[in-house]
Amino acid sequence: MLSITGLSCSYGTASIIDDLDLKLAQGEVLSVLGRNGMGKTTMVSAIAGIRPPEIRSGSIKFDDKELTSLESFEVARLGIGLVPQGRHVFGSLTVVENLNVVARPPRHSADLWTLERVFDFFPRLAERASSFARNLSGGEQQMLAIGRALMTNPSLLLMDEPSEGLAPIVLGAIRDRLLEIKGPDLSILLVEQNLGLALSLADRIAIMGAHGQIVWTGTPDELRHDDEAKKNHLGV
Ligand SMILES: Nc1ncnc2c1ncn2[C@@H]1O[C@H](COP(=O)(O)OP(=O)(O)OP(=O)(O)O)[C@@H](O)[C@H]1O
Ligand SMILES: [Mg+2]
Repeated sequence: MLSITGLSCSYGTASIIDDLDLKLAQGEVLSVLGRNGMGKTTMVSAIAGIRPPEIRSGSIKFDDKELTSLESFEVARLGIGLVPQGRHVFGSLTVVENLNVVARPPRHSADLWTLERVFDFFPRLAERASSFARNLSGGEQQMLAIGRALMTNPSLLLMDEPSEGLAPIVLGAIRDRLLEIKGPDLSILLVEQNLGLALSLADRIAIMGAHGQIVWTGTPDELRHDDEAKKNHLGV
């Protein structure tokens, strides 16, 4: 459903991603791991239509539609939801407003994300419904960022380091929720530094190395047992 081929991205004259190939199948959870600064967020931005980075060459196809020339709102309209690194919720809007501002009708009637369903999914958000987003805790903001992406009724969810800065207990709660929404109608591209989250959620793992190159791919089980790969590419 998502097919990246020969993608090269840069910020001004600094080339960050060079000739990246990556594929994500329908219903698959693919986790992209990699050390700081390798280009994971750059890749996510390129997919989501956020500029910069500039796309120098290559193709990003989503169900045969080319994304590289689209604006971010057009990418969102195609059914790609983004949970950006650092959450970026609208601080001066309430929880309800954050969720409603992006709501759009579902394309599959079976999979209808509404305000009510998001509140069932994250009861903590229901309790904070009329709070300004800037007053939420980090974990609550992450739930809101995820809820906001779900409100767009995506068929592909891009998540950029949802574990960042979260206490283990909150992270565990979010992991359990994400395990629930895994399924054939929702593909997930999960960018992570947190190996544990990637291992528990992903069907397949790709590790990004220097120049945005994929230096290792395999199943979570294969990575669990590959000490060499973990040491060389992740430093764990
Ligand atoms: N807006 C920008 N302008 C210039 N350089 C940038 C910009 N954003 C990122 N970079 C540089 O691009 C490189 C890749 O950054 P990117 O944010 O994609 O890494 P990352 O893999 O997501 O890292 P992290 O795990 O820390 O989030 C880094 O060297 C970074 O300094
Ligand atoms: Mg990043």
